[in-house]
Amino acid sequence: MTDHHLDTVRVLYDTVAESYHALVPPRFAEDAVGRGMLGAFADLVRADGGGPVADLGCGPGHVTDHLAALGLSVTGIDLSPAMVAVARRAHPALRFEVGSMTDLPLPDARLGGIVAWWSIVHTPPQVLPTVVAEFHRTLAPGGHLLLGFHVGDELVRRDHAYGHPVTVESYRHPPERVTGLLEQAGFTVTARLVTEGTSCQQACLLARRPPSERPIMEFGYQPNLDNSRESCATTP
Ligand SMILES: C[S@@+](CC[C@H](N)C(=O)[O-])C[C@H]1O[C@@H](n2cnc3c(N)ncnc32)[C@H](O)[C@@H]1O
Repeated sequence: MTDHHLDTVRVLYDTVAESYHALVPPRFAEDAVGRGMLGAFADLVRADGGGPVADLGCGPGHVTDHLAALGLSVTGIDLSPAMVAVARRAHPALRFEVGSMTDLPLPDARLGGIVAWWSIVHTPPQVLPTVVAEFHRTLAPGGHLLLGFHVGDELVRRDHAYGHPVTVESYRHPPERVTGLLEQAGFTVTARLVTEGTSCQQACLLARRPPSERPIMEFGYQPNLDNSRESCATTP
């Protein structure tokens, strides 16, 4: 993502932060399907040890708060300082930081989970590989990723949002292309859901950084998959 593009998105969400906070969390409260996907994600992260979770593009923090209520240790990160200020005010017990998915202020391989819930919707297709690489870098082996985004293959321009005259550039992404990028980066895609939204379809993808990746890279150890297949085949 060019710095100019990040600046445009930052200005957009700095401008609409308060009205977004008034309008969107009540809609999220009624989104049974989305909450179901977040619940499945939380179950998976907890089952794999409950490592730290990052809610990337957290906006005013309502999803961060929902994940915390599901028992996760979660930090919200957003490009927009105004969104982070609203999130801190609305959820003072939770952690929120300013940062970009294109260059995350996080160490390598520490996270048990990442949620990017309707936050790659302003990421141009040519920048998605950078963002996916950051997801992969910061997730620990075995960590889980949940993405929500609009389905399509186009740039949608608007000049109003959340009651403000602002420039909005949103990208719809084909789930097959996002799946391909995730797989190229080393993820295993574990679930795909497409729902019928009001203006377009919406996709949720669950993916996982394979648990065995780090031992293979660090120690040069290659499990003998042929042997394990043999032992399965010979088990009565
Ligand atoms: C449509 S809102 C979604 C907010 C929240 N996740 C939700 O579900 O309501 C998109 C959010 O992603 C943030 N965002 C967009 N690009 C980002 C980037 N590169 N890094 C971090 N946050 C970003 C915006 O500032 C905005 O708060």
